[in-house]
Amino acid sequence: MIHTITNFFTDEQISALDEIIDAHKDKPGSLIPMLEETQELLGYIPECVQERISVKADIAPNKIYGVVTFYSFFSMNQKARHRIQVCMGTACYVKGGKEIADKIEKDLGVKFGESTEDGRFTYEKARCFGACGLAPIILVDGKVYGKVTLDSIDGILSQYE
Ligand code: FES
Repeated sequence: MIHTITNFFTDEQISALDEIIDAHKDKPGSLIPMLEETQELLGYIPECVQERISVKADIAPNKIYGVVTFYSFFSMNQKARHRIQVCMGTACYVKGGKEIADKIEKDLGVKFGESTEDGRFTYEKARCFGACGLAPIILVDGKVYGKVTLDSIDGILSQYE
């Protein structure tokens, strides 16, 4: 299999990554903030993402690799097979996001930032995705699920093994 970025991430994730790169490139000292936002967006920074940053921001690949591997905060590997992100932006929070987060934590036995013991899910909190009309929102592997209810969560997560 060719390990291109499109094998790992959705078109929406890739355009959001490009926005991060465009917002930071050409600014001195911007590599670490750019990588922090990239990791927040994608959960990890594999080689294909490093390559895209290198080309689009004109930064040497070994410089990016050096920073990603030096700081323990950054990861080149996905922590679990799937990534759940619960939006904790204001609209989602008041429309039931908090209860959804509570249910996921209870059912999966995890707190924000943790992975399930079986390596199935990493569970993270996220900021507003700008799709507040669909609140409350969760993302699984970058796919958006809107108007989530306590009753619909099990059906959503059961699609991910
Ligand atoms: S608050 Fe969740 S998408 Fe805006």
